[in-house]
Amino acid sequence: MTNPLAPDWLVLPADVNALDTRVWPRHFERQATGECTIAGVSVRELAAEFGTPLYVIDEDDFRARATSVRNALTSAAESIGTTAKVYYASKAFMSVEIASWINELGLNIDVASGGELAAALASGIEPARIGVHGNNKSTREIARAISAGVGAIVIDSEIEIERIAAAATAQDKIQKVRLRVNTGVHANTHDFLATAREDQKFGMSIADAPALVEKIRSHSHLKFVGLHSHIGSQIHAREGFVEAVSRLVKLHAELSKNGEVAELNLGGGFGINYKPADDAPDIHAFAEAIAVAVKVECQKLGIAVPALAFEPGRYIAGNPGITLYTVGTIKDVNVSDAGAGATRKYVSVDGGMSDNMRTALYDAEYHTVLASRSTRAEPALARVVGKHCESGDIVVSHDYLPSDVAPNDLLAVAATGAYCYSLSNNYNFLTRPGVVAVRAGEARLVIRAETEADLFTRDLRYQANQERVTP
Ligand SMILES: Cc1ncc(COP(=O)(O)O)c(C=O)c1O
Repeated sequence: MTNPLAPDWLVLPADVNALDTRVWPRHFERQATGECTIAGVSVRELAAEFGTPLYVIDEDDFRARATSVRNALTSAAESIGTTAKVYYASKAFMSVEIASWINELGLNIDVASGGELAAALASGIEPARIGVHGNNKSTREIARAISAGVGAIVIDSEIEIERIAAAATAQDKIQKVRLRVNTGVHANTHDFLATAREDQKFGMSIADAPALVEKIRSHSHLKFVGLHSHIGSQIHAREGFVEAVSRLVKLHAELSKNGEVAELNLGGGFGINYKPADDAPDIHAFAEAIAVAVKVECQKLGIAVPALAFEPGRYIAGNPGITLYTVGTIKDVNVSDAGAGATRKYVSVDGGMSDNMRTALYDAEYHTVLASRSTRAEPALARVVGKHCESGDIVVSHDYLPSDVAPNDLLAVAATGAYCYSLSNNYNFLTRPGVVAVRAGEARLVIRAETEADLFTRDLRYQANQERVTP
């Protein structure tokens, strides 16, 4: 009997021990013993050494995906006679270690705050390979970016033109800038992620752009390098990009009449597989479709194809990362008004919305498996929930787990490499998990887990009351 609580897209697994290679890191495997390993390191060993929850990154997979998206975008650009700069959108997962991998692999880095800029600079990347975003950069952030020598700053409002010009003038530098425009294109994605709709905070309208670019050009310490657009995230259909390209190239052509416009930055947003039911597009075909759209529009308008730029984030960081959790409590909840057989197994783990906000924030769907052992048990409809005082504290809303899942089992949740660590928080005073990179049988701690002491380093009364603190 099918469980009426199971959504239509959720497929009953033929084998609860099977791993879908399109979702898991490239080197995540189940061994003959039943236990999963990642890049040759057993999940039990990881849990024993570093504790859970734990973010684990398959480093070679991260590097391979960064290289593959860079190659896809640069070769698509070459096929239309131009070049492409590929920026890693570091908001997906930023740490100095990650930024140094990106640097080694020859990608550029996009940052959205002074903190992300500090991390990028600490990695040793040449500042000219950093792009700076943000709809409300502080004057301090702007001054720091200019003095560091960042490649380009994306202007997001009219006010910023004066602010960036004033900072560049004060430092007697000529700062390259882009203008973020809101194309109004609705990418097929969740509402909150669709950053190019008109009724939202990012960018300026296409109609206002020509006057703003004139204003930028009137400042001798600013150099306008081109338009920037980001139409949303987790995009699976190319139509949104193609439509945005058509609108942007028209504007690009108009702006070219009054001066050079060297580049066109189309942002990120390439979708990935979070769960077996997803069908993310092949990045090479996707990149080619975008490049062809650029070429066709440029030909129509009789202009030269500009240099392109892209900012993939989750495509690089998402699938190489998993989160390991330890199961604590389990309840079978019978949802009587949903019909016969409507039972859901609530599996509580030792983390939750503090290490994965995306389920609560975007109704994101994740996939999980029992990772510490295999089983012959039947699949049961399950919901993986955290330990926070919030009923929306859900990590995996809909999936099947073996019906014999038990306390102390380890669960692995797939594709948590992007926007989980970076959105992590201390709600309910939970400590944030550590991050481990695994490669060729070796596990390396990249970010240590927070301790209870870390939670109180800024609480001055706690520091004053040290003698009352119980061990
Ligand atoms: C301006 C900009 N560029 C790039 C990205 C990266 O998007 P994704 O991680 O979906 O590729 C974002 C995400 O919000 C963004 O706002």
